[in-house]
This record gives sequence, structure tokens and C-alpha cells, in this order.
Amino acid sequence: MTTAELTIFESMESNVRGYCRAWPTLFDTAQGAWLRDASGRDYLDFFAGAGALNYGHNNPVLKSALLDYIARDGITHGLDMSTVAKRELLETMEQVLLSPRGLEYKVQFPGPTGANAVESALKLARKITGRTTILNFTNAFHGMTLGALSVTGNAAKRAGAGVPLVHVNPMPYDGYVEGADFTWMERVLDDNSSGVEKPAAVIVETVQGEGGVNVARHEWLRALADLCAARGILLIVDDVQMGCGRTGPFFSFETAGITPDIVTLSKSISGYGMPMALVLMRPELDQWAPGEHNGTFRGNNPAFVTAKVSLEHFWSDRKLEESTLAKGEQIRKSFEALSSEYKGISTRGRGMVQGLVFEDASQASKVCRIGFEKGLIVETSGAEDQVVKLLPPLTITDDELSHGLSILTDAVHTIREGR
Ligand SMILES: Cc1ncc(COP(=O)(O)O)c(C=O)c1O
Repeated sequence: MTTAELTIFESMESNVRGYCRAWPTLFDTAQGAWLRDASGRDYLDFFAGAGALNYGHNNPVLKSALLDYIARDGITHGLDMSTVAKRELLETMEQVLLSPRGLEYKVQFPGPTGANAVESALKLARKITGRTTILNFTNAFHGMTLGALSVTGNAAKRAGAGVPLVHVNPMPYDGYVEGADFTWMERVLDDNSSGVEKPAAVIVETVQGEGGVNVARHEWLRALADLCAARGILLIVDDVQMGCGRTGPFFSFETAGITPDIVTLSKSISGYGMPMALVLMRPELDQWAPGEHNGTFRGNNPAFVTAKVSLEHFWSDRKLEESTLAKGEQIRKSFEALSSEYKGISTRGRGMVQGLVFEDASQASKVCRIGFEKGLIVETSGAEDQVVKLLPPLTITDDELSHGLSILTDAVHTIREGR
């Protein structure tokens, strides 16, 4: 790839662009777990659109449903009008997702991004409870709009708001401090003179993806759910990145045995990388007035079509969940081999979100850079970018996964030993 082919991005596109700096090539086509650039070079994708492509690029089953829908002039833009595509999606969600899990949720279609789903959830929680404060967690990431940013931890991202981010109270996430449990949180919530106002809601990720692949234990999540239930605090699980099967089951909270009051979904919910988001809420919490939260692009009907087909295709049985857990194990073993070979490297994750954590943070970026040179797309996460974060498509083959893991292993060897 010549730099001339990238010149227009430097001259015309805003400085705000990010990923293109880490992967300086001109991507053109993609299929399954592979991206191809304009010069014909292939890259194995361990990033999957930041978790928006859990079923890979241009999945043929979804593509064919999408092409059929477009060919018959199916509605593309539908605001929140009732459409056949939306009806079929809701029916499929009920049959495939909610009813088999004993979940009863009403479904809101907010604007088509994760941040929009989070904004809706926060607004709704405040409206229902009449309270203003939200409890969030250290290292959380919930999006870049003001409300979502206010419950996000990262200082650089928060600084971008340009206004005070208020009405939140950060609490330590599981593992943030040694031996931390909910003793302190319970104490301040139950103490009228603690200075911590009774919150409307707690918002939590079961695994913090952007925050550095921090994994909350199931018992910690259960204790959090109990704490909220006992005090009339709404529990919002932000499943934008960890939902849609990333950790194994469709909802990342299933294995913890908790039922959140409100759930946010986006990223892989359309299945095809198309913009779409959902807020699920217990039926009695649906206290919205008509149009109280709206948005022009709530009705991305082609995304509803691929969302419906991806639910039918991938979630009518447990095959994908089982294979995700098996592949997660494959990644974990490969990472554990590295962490036992070298000091200063550790590993953590759940299902197919796995992190390789470097004490010397600069080494994580070096691994990703070498990976790119060898044809692998993988990013860092965490406060210091100290974690190589793996988010391969869940549909990646075992051979492709092994290939990418060997590139990563070689990259670590190169950095640590110059071999
Ligand atoms: C947990 C979580 N919530 C919300 C968001 C924001 O989603 P979006 O970028 O679509 O606004 C993200 C994005 O990475 C996320 O990981």
C-alpha cells in the first residue's frame, strides 16, 4: 500500500480518526474473519468491528436475506412505524431469545448506536425513580455522548465533553482493589450522612471490554443485583459489547443467574454490522410517553431483517454458545502459555473476549503493530492501553484462530527476545 493512496484521509478527514492510524491501509472487501485491502493483501480480523461483527463479515446467510429484502423494495427507513421487518424481528426475539430464557422484556428501538441505548436507559431510570444519580464503575465504558460519557471512567474521553459530567458516583469494579466486596457500597447507600445520594440506577458491564477486559465474577454480579433489588435501585446491564454471544450465551449476564431491570444492546444485534440498538426493560418499567425519546434512524429495517435471521440462524440451538466457549478456551490456553513463559504478562477474559495484559503497557501496542505487519487486526484496551484485546468473530474457524494466535505468540517472542 503506497502512502499516496492514503493522502486524502490525512488532508480531508478530521484528526479525530483513530483506527486508521493503527492499521494504515486501504481496506476494500471482507468475508468471514478476513479483510482484504485494495492491493489484495489479506488480514485476519481479531477485532470484528469492535464487537459489531460477531458472525463475521458479510455472512452469506444474512447477506442473502438482506439482498432479497432490498430486491423486493422492502422499507429501508421506517422511523418507528410498524413494518413487516420489525414485526418479524419482535416475534423472533420473543420466540428465540426471551421466552426460552424465561425473560419478560419490552423492547425499545432507540437511535442506532450503543451510546443512544445507554442514554435511553439512563433517562428512563431517572424518570421512573425520580432520582438523578447513577452509580457506575471504575474503568467503565458506555459511549461518547454526554450521558454515556458521564458514566464512563476514562479521563481523556471524559475531558472531551467540555462540560462537567455530573450526577454519577463511581464505585470500584470487581477486582479494582484487592478483596473489595460491597461492604462499602452498602454502607454508604444505607447511611443518610454518607453524602452518597440514593441512585436511580447502577450501570454495569459484566466484562469491561474497553476498560481492559476486566471480568466481573458471577458472585459479584449476583451480589450487585441483590444489593440493587433490596434498595429499589434499577440494575442496567450494558450488554452492547458483551452481548450477542461474545462471552458464550446470548446475554452475558445469563451465566451469573441475574435478571437486569434494563438491558442495552447494539453492536452485533443486527448481525451484519449495520447500525441498530435496543433497550430491553421489564414491562412495568416501560413508562415512556410516546416520542419522549426518539431519533430519525430508529427504524433501520434492513438491520431488523439481518437481526431476525441471525437470531434464527445462530440462536435456535446452543451450537454457537458451545463453540464460543471452546474457542475461548483455545485462546486462553495460548495466552496462558505466554504468561507462564514470561514475567509481566497475564491473561483474563470470558468466552471469546480475552485479554493479554502487559505490565509494561508499551509492549501491548508493539504486539498489535507487529501483528498488523504480519496480517492480523487486533487492538489494545485498558486505561494505559496495556491489554491486547481479542474479539475475533465467533464464527472464525479453529484453523483461522490458531493462525492468528501463532502470529500473536511470535509477536510476543519478538518483543521479549528479539526472535
Ligand atoms: C459497553 C459499551 N457500551 C456502549 C458503547 C457505545 O456504543 P457506540 O459506539 O455504538 O455508541 C460501547 C462501545 O464500545 C461499549 O463497549
